[in-house]
Amino acid sequence: MTSVTSLTDLVHQRLANALSATLPEADADPLLRRSDRADFQANGILALAKKAKANPRELATQVVAQVESGDVIKDIEVSGPGFLNITISDKAIIANLAERYTDPARLGVPPKKNPGITVVDYAQPNVAKEMHVGHLRSAVIGDALRGMLDFTGERTIGRHHIGDWGTQFGMLIQYLVENPGELAPPEDVDGEQAMSNLNRVYKASRAVFDTDEEFKERARKRVVALQSGDKETLELWQQFVDESKVYFYSVFEKLDMEIRDEEIVGESAYNEGMPETARLLEEMGVAERSDGALVVFFDEIRGKDDKPVPLIVQKADGGFGYAASDLTAIRNRVVDLDATTLLYVVDVRQSLHFRMVFETARRAGWLGDDVTAHNMGYGTVLGADGKPFKTRQGETVKLEDLLDEAVERATAVVREKAEKVGLTEEEIVENGRYVGIGAVKYADLSTSPSRDYKFDLDQMVSLNGDTSVYLQYAYARIKSILRKADDKRPTAHPELELAPAERALGLHLDAFGDLLAEATAEYAPHKLTAYLYQLASLFTTFYDQCPVIKPEPPKDIAENRLFLCDLTARTLHRGMALLGIRTPEKL
Ligand code: ARG
Repeated sequence: MTSVTSLTDLVHQRLANALSATLPEADADPLLRRSDRADFQANGILALAKKAKANPRELATQVVAQVESGDVIKDIEVSGPGFLNITISDKAIIANLAERYTDPARLGVPPKKNPGITVVDYAQPNVAKEMHVGHLRSAVIGDALRGMLDFTGERTIGRHHIGDWGTQFGMLIQYLVENPGELAPPEDVDGEQAMSNLNRVYKASRAVFDTDEEFKERARKRVVALQSGDKETLELWQQFVDESKVYFYSVFEKLDMEIRDEEIVGESAYNEGMPETARLLEEMGVAERSDGALVVFFDEIRGKDDKPVPLIVQKADGGFGYAASDLTAIRNRVVDLDATTLLYVVDVRQSLHFRMVFETARRAGWLGDDVTAHNMGYGTVLGADGKPFKTRQGETVKLEDLLDEAVERATAVVREKAEKVGLTEEEIVENGRYVGIGAVKYADLSTSPSRDYKFDLDQMVSLNGDTSVYLQYAYARIKSILRKADDKRPTAHPELELAPAERALGLHLDAFGDLLAEATAEYAPHKLTAYLYQLASLFTTFYDQCPVIKPEPPKDIAENRLFLCDLTARTLHRGMALLGIRTPEKL
């Protein structure tokens, strides 16, 4: 593992040194950014001059005189009212990239300094219910954030807080008692059969429940039996969970996503701890009794009639619900799992719930400065028409149908070019899957999570524009270039002068680690997709302007360009992999 300091950081250090040499008291940020006019621009001197009551241009000139010139900075000049324009030497660009190239796994990106433990709560479907597009979003965003966090050196623990508890199980279980054999053993069914069994049982039990008062009463008693841990009832409940898991796993597999059984820890897992949670909250005075229920009030959270809306920890009949389970989960994650960060990837419509839960946990001292919690509340998935995603009949769209359709369309796109690229039928099928699933993931990830996004398959599998297919093609194209150049090896030549397109590509490649650190700290996968998209675009310009194979450039130039090609491919591959998207070698 080689840790490479990015050019941005190198320049930043030199400027910060020069600033403090000029104005020793000021703890000033040079405010460095990439710029079109030079490679970088520093804007920090303006504010500094104002504070020091100095002429900004004069101050800038003094700072420039203090900047350590060496191999990195080729040119630094004062411009405008007191900006600094900085140009990096060609040699430094290639030398830095050459170091990155020696580290294929991390591309020279150093792990972060103080990694912690982040528990990521994501991909949390509900037992005996069909998954919907919202569950898809949680899974895709959560998985990508985990990939990014892991890469920075953070330890992540996944928690799939599945909805596996609640009064609806009374009805389901009672129906199964009265109609044994309606759920096939989980080992005998595939995902689709499991879900259709569950659907059938759900509909049938609902129908009896709604029409038969006596059944309703038996179902109610069944809830009590379930809550008191009756053995037979629990076994039947477990059947629903197991059957559902067969279905969940089939969807996650379709999504090309690894889910670990030990990380599926649903609401029910916290049942045992809930009375203790309630006791602690009441003893600490965080929660209070109100009409028999145990509740927490918040000054700032009020309903329509301006009455405070409470968080209900325990209902008047003694029952616990969603909030108690989440509060108990927090205790478990903080105390037993040693988490330093709790991250929730849950629909933004639950953000009020989490605000109240987090605030309660803060008052109880379970969250604080050392342990923080965030809900990455994501927006709604809309259809291409901009309305909430539904079938033409107004029903929710089955997730599996959606994924199948994406794969089908992608396979058609792949097939069109298959002959030219020389793909076998097997490769077409495999690539179709990677392109289709990648398209769904990328479209989701490239929108800022908090925003609604349009599920538009036509756009998703389009070869032009900001899509995963575009990036996958860029990757495959580079791979094909590298195969064609087999008599020449990618080799860095720092002594060469670079063309503008080579410099632009090189500087962008060097910024991968910095960008990743920023995108991860902000939980912003869309910043990573934007980076990768720009990388592919810069590569396209480079490839247009700088021949690699034909017309054949001199050997050293060809080698250096192949080196840029290869590092671009590695960076694309790494970045996409962090997001959970595959990059086929041939496409
Ligand atoms: N199962 C819930 C739903 O489908 C999401 C669970 C979110 N996680 C949590 N810790 N509450 O809406």
